Amino acid sequence: MFKKDLLKDKRILITGGGTGLGKEMANHFAEHGAELYICGRRNNVLVETANEIIDKYKTQVHTQVLDIRASKDVDDYVQSIFDDKPLDGLINNAAGNFISPTKDLSHKGFDAIANIVFHGTFYMTHSVGKRWIESNHKGSIVNILTTWIWTGSPYVVPSAMSKSGIHAMTQSLAAEWGKYGIKINGIAPGPFPTKGAWDRLNPDSKNEGDGMMSSVPLGRVGDMIELQNLATFLMADGCDYLTGQTIGLDGAQYLTGGGTFSQLDKLSEEDWSNMREMIRGANNKDKADRG
Ligand code: HXC
Repeated sequence: MFKKDLLKDKRILITGGGTGLGKEMANHFAEHGAELYICGRRNNVLVETANEIIDKYKTQVHTQVLDIRASKDVDDYVQSIFDDKPLDGLINNAAGNFISPTKDLSHKGFDAIANIVFHGTFYMTHSVGKRWIESNHKGSIVNILTTWIWTGSPYVVPSAMSKSGIHAMTQSLAAEWGKYGIKINGIAPGPFPTKGAWDRLNPDSKNEGDGMMSSVPLGRVGDMIELQNLATFLMADGCDYLTGQTIGLDGAQYLTGGGTFSQLDKLSEEDWSNMREMIRGANNKDKADRG
């Protein structure tokens, strides 16, 4: 779809770039010539992903262990990159989410998600954006959102609230920072199965048949290349007039009323208890990886 040197000389930071959607976008940017900065909480997956990409595309990939909830760490990290040379692109991809009846959430559970998605995404955007403004350098930001920013969704309320806030940030900063040559857009993917998301949003895999997938008019989940192409287009030069927009990439799922977790209404308390155990198992495995 694109010339192989489309992103040559672009330096792009991807939060949560070691796994899932972040890793997929990183691969595609590297294939098109970008130099990458990937950060996340687990060193082992970052290093593994970086080595894979370097092997395949012979481009530069820098890794950093970072929890975007820690605002000072975020700012120090961004400063260390700009000390060398400014970034050209930022993908706010890191997120946290799990399905749960809202009545069963603890305040710490709410905070875990809101601190990653709402606060962490702001810290990163602010740290990068203010340096672009100071150095008179143009840049492109892409926020990975969800279609619940338009509809809300039961059972993922902290995520829906936080991502809606980032959608508001996308619109607000497009207007405030347009004069500095900064464009900022969002992508709202429908179902693009990745391990991190599916372990927490579809832990028993029951959603796939009569739930989420059957509600996509195209009759299938997203193909990763479709997300990669859209993200690459938004990182490239050539369409800077496109800013402040969140683009749904969901096969028209949410327009049919199908993009939420409403179908989970049929679960019993016992089903929820089993799901909680499965999600906690996935969380604990990730924690063990973080050491
Ligand atoms: C109820 C839960 C829970 C569950 C965790 N908690 N899982 N509560 N049901 N299933 C509670 C814990 O009990 C604890 O509260 C609090 O949340 C914090 O848990 P920790 O495990 O200590 O938090 P932490 O290690 O900071 O992990 C953050 C996390 C975790 C968000 C809970 O899931 C994570 O690291 N996720 C990152 C990856 C991820 O989520 N990927 C999916 C993104 S998908 P108490 O009060 O008990 O101490 C996405 C949208 C996709 O964003 C859209 C697809 C359509």
